[in-house]
Amino acid sequence: MVVSKAWTLRQHFQGFPKASDFHLREETLPQPKNGQVLLEAVFLSVDPYMRPYSQTMMKEGDVMIGSQVAKVIQSYNPSFPVGCHVVSDCGWRSHWVCDGAELTPVLPDWPQDIPLSLALGAIGMPGLTALYGLEEVCEIKKGETLLVNAAAGAVGSVVGQIAKIKGCRVVGCAGTDTKVSYLKELGFDQVFNYKTATSLEESLREAAPHGYDCYFENVGGKFSSVVMPQMREYGRIAVCGSISMYNDTTPQTGILLSKTNKMFVLILQGKLRCNEHITSGFNNMPAAFMGMLQGDNIGKAVVKV
Ligand SMILES: NC(=O)c1ccc[n+]([C@@H]2O[C@H](COP(=O)([O-])OP(=O)(O)OC[C@H]3O[C@@H](n4cnc5c(N)ncnc54)[C@H](OP(=O)(O)O)[C@@H]3O)[C@@H](O)[C@H]2O)c1
Repeated sequence: MVVSKAWTLRQHFQGFPKASDFHLREETLPQPKNGQVLLEAVFLSVDPYMRPYSQTMMKEGDVMIGSQVAKVIQSYNPSFPVGCHVVSDCGWRSHWVCDGAELTPVLPDWPQDIPLSLALGAIGMPGLTALYGLEEVCEIKKGETLLVNAAAGAVGSVVGQIAKIKGCRVVGCAGTDTKVSYLKELGFDQVFNYKTATSLEESLREAAPHGYDCYFENVGGKFSSVVMPQMREYGRIAVCGSISMYNDTTPQTGILLSKTNKMFVLILQGKLRCNEHITSGFNNMPAAFMGMLQGDNIGKAVVKV
């Protein structure tokens, strides 16, 4: 028998989440049966969607939703031998028993030089969201000007770099000067700190006097209404998220994607840099989640068990 740790939602968040909204409990897992595997968490993701989805998809007492990279430590399922890694949506749990139906295997030929945690970042949901939004929603073309906000985050940092690879002019906004410097290092053409700018409207206009062809929207709310008049004719907007509103009450939609190999190639060629903000320890999940919501991370926020 394995005793798993699990973080539950003690009570629904009211405004910004607090440590007391979470509860750490232990659960004794059943012995895996034929066809089942026992998973041990290696990296857990903390993502903005958890905040609004907790409101719409969870009830008090449920285990927090979320994805993790886990290692198979016992197996009665030949598709997932002991030692292999998978991406599982089993939530904020240290261990889990399941039948494999809902597991995504981490590719057996995962390049050695690429950390497995990127299966939750640039190679996973956030990176593929960036790629999908740019290619399928914005249909971005060489020479166009793109604006992305929350630009130093898991999605935004990939959006800007891919747009540069595609030959675009990229304007990014972020909330600290350290993030602004990081984005300049990544090759963004214009970056500014939206928190210290005297006028968001002016800063956006200075960065792109002829306006924006594409807007990759991560923030929503007031930010969005300031950008709209600066869109060019036939401009396209990928409405990816609205993090500025999550601590109120705003549902969002999800996008499913699978262009993993393209992302591997970009990383291995050194064309895509993937910073990670790694917090250590399963017990620190709530702190890592709250830190991510207040913008502590440059790149993807993950927890290493
Ligand atoms: N549609 C989808 O399938 C999908 C998939 C993934 C993500 N998303 C959405 O994409 C957005 C970014 O996600 P992510 O994974 O890149 O998150 P992330 O890495 O945690 O970055 C989020 C960043 O948002 C910024 N932020 C937080 N509160 C803000 C506010 N009130 N106003 C302006 N900026 C704020 C912070 O950076 P600053 O310091 O710069 O403010 C924070 O670091 C979120 O809205 C998320 O829900 C959607």
